[in-house]
Amino acid sequence: MSTHIAAEPGQIAPIVLFPGDPLRAKWIAENFLDDATLYSETRGMLGFTGTWEGHRVSVQGSGMGQPSMAIYATELFTEYDVQTIVRVGSCGALAEHLSVRDIIIANGACTDSGINRVRFNGLDYAPVADFSLLRAAVEASEQMSLGSAVHVGLLFSSDQFYSTRPELTEPFVQHGALAVEMETSGLYTLAAFHGRRALSICTVSDHIVTGEATTAHEREQTFGEMIEIALRAATA
Ligand code: ADE
Repeated sequence: MSTHIAAEPGQIAPIVLFPGDPLRAKWIAENFLDDATLYSETRGMLGFTGTWEGHRVSVQGSGMGQPSMAIYATELFTEYDVQTIVRVGSCGALAEHLSVRDIIIANGACTDSGINRVRFNGLDYAPVADFSLLRAAVEASEQMSLGSAVHVGLLFSSDQFYSTRPELTEPFVQHGALAVEMETSGLYTLAAFHGRRALSICTVSDHIVTGEATTAHEREQTFGEMIEIALRAATA
């Protein structure tokens, strides 16, 4: 058992899908994994292990924001020898050409968080995706007939969902950031530090510029396509 995950060593697979919402973890386990069993419900942050097309796969809730996500990612890497984490989350579109339900495969992430400023003594680090996962996810998405458009690009990982200064993201959008979420920068940094693979895939749940939002049904449908891309990439 680690501090925040109540699994015994060996109960968590080398591949972990990593949604923010623990109930999404349950939904993924119920709808995509065979023989899924619950290994942890500490603090309600559910984790399951099962199989997908013969591969052992776990799905673990991360909570919202880099501090919560970092607790679970660090324990997965250091206490359970997890090799591959694929975040499957939602994001708010910042770039006008995106639509709700689009899927973003993040090749890198910018941030307003102070975490990496502390970690890198005030200098700037560029958190990037594992290339083999990125390539496999793009290839998987090209082979599937998807209802959603897929984009590869930058996410902006914010510490605040309710930002008091939304104008701060403007220069990032001018330099290619597609959407805002709250975890990817930290996940990519931790994976690099621990020498493991990470990728973040997000569906656009809301559009910051146009105000467009998805219905619960649309979110579920797009979420399913994203999970399939994540599973194919992680097991490729
Ligand atoms: N995740 C989904 N929508 C978001 C938003 N608008 N800001 C931050 N994270 C999000």
